[in-house]
Parts: sequence; C-alpha cells; structure tokens
Amino acid sequence: MDTLKRIGVYTSGGDAPGMNACVRAVVRTAAAHDLEVIGIRRGYAGMIEGDFVEIDGRSVSNIVQQGGTILKSARSKRFQTPEGRARAAANLREAGVQGLVAIGGDGTLRGASIFTEEHHIPIVGCPGTIDNDLFGTDETIGYDTALNTALENIDRIRDTADAHDRLFLVEVMGRDAGFIALNCAIGGGAELVLIPETLVELDEIKERIHSLMSAQTRSSIVVVAEGEELGGAQRIEQALLEDGAFSHIDIRVCILGHTQRGGSPTARDRVLASRLGAAAVEALLEGHSGVMVGIVNNEVKLTSMRNVWSRKKNINYELLKLTQLLS
Ligand code: F6P
Repeated sequence: MDTLKRIGVYTSGGDAPGMNACVRAVVRTAAAHDLEVIGIRRGYAGMIEGDFVEIDGRSVSNIVQQGGTILKSARSKRFQTPEGRARAAANLREAGVQGLVAIGGDGTLRGASIFTEEHHIPIVGCPGTIDNDLFGTDETIGYDTALNTALENIDRIRDTADAHDRLFLVEVMGRDAGFIALNCAIGGGAELVLIPETLVELDEIKERIHSLMSAQTRSSIVVVAEGEELGGAQRIEQALLEDGAFSHIDIRVCILGHTQRGGSPTARDRVLASRLGAAAVEALLEGHSGVMVGIVNNEVKLTSMRNVWSRKKNINYELLKLTQLLS
C-alpha cells in the first residue's frame, strides 16, 4: 500500500453523544502524523454523493462537548447495493482517500467490512452507538451519556409517580439489547426490568406487578427495553388495561425515545471517544484494516469487524439477579 497521506472519516447510523469527540481525535491525531483528513458528510449516503469536506485541526475546535455529529449521519439503502458501494469507492479514489475511519454501530461496521473486502480501501471502525451492543469493546461511544440521561429521567418520573402512587412503564432505547434498560433499572431502583435477552411471560409480569402494587401503596417503576419480546411499554399497558385485575392501578407510560440520543457527552464518553479516535488513526497507520478499535479492561484492543457484528455481546446476568434482589 502507498504511504498514507489522506484519510476520510464519517459518522453513520444513529448518532451518539461523543461522536464529535471521536471525530476531533481522528482529525488531530491525523494532523500530528501529517495526514490530511476529508470529512464525509451523512455517512454512506454522502460517500455515494461525494459530499466531502476538508477538515483540519482547527475545524474541530469546540466540539468535544457537543452532542450529535458535525459530520451529520444517515442510514443509506443505496450503500446496501453493489452499485451504491462502487459509486462510493469511485468517489473516494477520485478524492485521493487512501483509508477510512468509520464511526457508528452495528450497521455501519457491517457496511464497512463488506466495503473494504469488496473495494480494498482500508477501514478501521470506532464503536459509536448508545446501544452498547457491539462485541469487542466494554463500552460504546454514547452509551454512558444515554444511560445517564435515562437515569435522570427515571429519577424525575419517580417523583411524580410517588406523589400519585402510580405505576409507570418507562420505555428506554437499545434496539435488541438491554444494556441501557438493565443499568438504569438498577441505578433508578426500578421494581422490575424487562429486557430482550430474557423472556418474561405476560402472566408472570402481571403477577409481579400485582404483588408490587398491592403489597405497598407507593409507586412502582417498570423499565421496559424497546426490544423486549412483548413489544414495548404500550403493549404491556394495553394488556394490563384489558385485565380487570388492574383496574385499581393508575398506570402511565413514558417513552424516553430520542431524548437519550442527544445532549452533551459525559466525561466518560469524551475520554472513550478520544482514545478510540486516536487509536483508529494509529491502527490505519500500522496497516490494519477491517478491524474495530475497542477498549477491553482499559486497554485498546482490535477486533475483526466481522466478529463485531456476527458475535453477540452478552449482558451481565448477575445484574439482572441484582435488580430482583433489590426491588
Ligand atoms: O441504534 C441507536 C438507536 O437509537 C436505537 O436505540 C433505536 O432503536 C434506533 O437507533 C432508533 O433509530 P432512528 O433514530 O432511526 O429512529
């Protein structure tokens, strides 16, 4: 491979707080190695359309604390086709881009690994998603911020739930994973948590809620992961409303939704993103490709992108037992 002179960086899929800190680290680490950086706007969609912008150390000033992504993000259907990927590769070659840093989640890294195998443009991935569902890193960029946002909201909900002795079903994000749900349930003292990794039958949920609300007059909070088997908080509410045994309980649903995606990243996310952005550029310079940089036991680790999206990252089942013990 020619000596690296110019690399590209993009953010793709659902944005996550800390993506900007990661872009900044990529650009400044590249500058320290005399590499030029092209920012690819709107992820794979922008790659296909040639939506490129030159960025240097100064263009990333004052973004370490900002949520969202200055490069913008998108989910691209065209990139899923060989024609779309060929167009993207041609644009990159024309712009002289010799290597890429991809910042995003499962879909982004899946696209990146197919693209690099097909078109031989080296790519190193950085795990950026609030879901924390990527194998090969203890935490993903954005997860800690989203978790703390969810937790802060649960604390607020607890106040009003308690004032009215209500049952709240609080739905949190996480796609098919329960990391946010499980951890904010423990932190927020939730009475019950429902996550995709374990199936709890509706009858058992009803039984648990019934005993919670009849044993005490205080509030109860049930944290429901959006990917949970029964279909989310509204479905569960519906099932409870249709059952006469719950007519004495005042039920409310609160879906935290995209509030969890925005906001200034926590210190933990800023540090994680900075370490990973720098590590990604160094990995490219060392000649790596088709890998994701992660932090495992506080050390930078490279994992093949194929493993990242084909292997499942497990939740900690001890934490699930703890929610039951403490509720
Ligand atoms: O992957 C991040 C995430 O926020 C998931 O938790 C959620 O299921 C999904 O993205 C929402 O996607 P969109 O912003 O496209 O509605």
